[in-house]
Amino acid sequence: MDIKGKKAVVFGGTSGIGLAVTQQLAARGATVVAVSRDPSKAGELPAGVTTMACDVLDRDAVAGVLAACAPYDILVSSATGGDRAIGRFTEMDMDGFQGSFRKVWGYANVVRYGTQHLPEDGTIVLVSGSPARRIKPGMIAVGAAGAAIESMVRSIAQEITPRRINVVAPGVIDTPMNPLQGEARAKAYAANTANHLIPRAGTAEECARAVLFLVENEFVTGTTVDVDGGWLLA
Ligand SMILES: NC(=O)c1ccc[n+]([C@@H]2O[C@H](COP(=O)([O-])OP(=O)(O)OC[C@H]3O[C@@H](n4cnc5c(N)ncnc54)[C@H](OP(=O)(O)O)[C@@H]3O)[C@@H](O)[C@H]2O)c1
Repeated sequence: MDIKGKKAVVFGGTSGIGLAVTQQLAARGATVVAVSRDPSKAGELPAGVTTMACDVLDRDAVAGVLAACAPYDILVSSATGGDRAIGRFTEMDMDGFQGSFRKVWGYANVVRYGTQHLPEDGTIVLVSGSPARRIKPGMIAVGAAGAAIESMVRSIAQEITPRRINVVAPGVIDTPMNPLQGEARAKAYAANTANHLIPRAGTAEECARAVLFLVENEFVTGTTVDVDGGWLLA
C-alpha cells in the first residue's frame, strides 16, 4: 500500500509506540486520527493529524468513532486498555490477571467494529509483545493476553481476506508505559535486556517502522513481526 494520501485511525496513537506510528504515517502523507481516552497527552502533533477521545473498552464508543472516521484505509491499535498484572500465577491477584486481558477486549472491539469500514485493500495492525511466545518469570498475564491476540489475528486474517491483518510483537521498549524515571529507569532497562542479543531497550520509532512495513507490504497477512532485540533467542 502506498501510504501517501491514505487515511489511518490509530487507537493508542497518542503515546509511545502508537504515537510514533501516528507521526510516521503523517510523515508519509497519510491523514491520521489518533484515538485514546485523553488525547491531550500527545502534545503537539504534525499536520494531518487530528485526535478523538474514546475508551477502547466501550463498544458503542469504539463503533461510533470508527463510523465517524469511515472510510479509512489503515487501522492500528496499540492501546493497552488498562494495567498489567506481574507475578507468579500461583500467587496472582485474579482481578489483576483478568484486567490484563483488557488489551484483548480493546483490540477485539477495534477489529470487530472497524473491519466493516475497511476497503478490500485495507489493512489492520495490532501490537502484542514478546512474552506471547517466550515467557519470562512473572509475565504470565501479559504472555497469555499476547498469545490470545496473535492467535486471534491468525484466525481473523482468514475471515477478512483480501483485507490484511498483522501483529508487531515488541520486546522491551522505552515508552511512557514505564513509570520509572532517571537512574531507576536506566537500571531497569539494563537489567531487563542484559541477556538479549541487543542489550538495550528498543525505541517506539523502531516498533513503528515495523508497523509501517506491515501496512505497506501487500503480501503479508496473518503473521507476527518481532521487534525485540533478540529477546526470543535470549
Ligand atoms: N513498551 C513496551 O515495553 C512494550 C512491550 C511489549 C508490548 N507493548 C505493547 O505495545 C502497546 C503500546 O504500548 P506503549 O508502550 O506504547 O504504551 P503507552 O505509551 O502507555 O501508550 C498506550 C496508549 O494506549 C492508550 N490507551 C490505554 N488504555 C486505553 C483505553 N482503555 N482506551 C483507549 N486508549 C487507551 C493510551 O492513551 P490514554 O491513556 O489517553 O487512553 C496511550 O495512547 C501496548 O499494547 C503494550 O502492551 C509494549
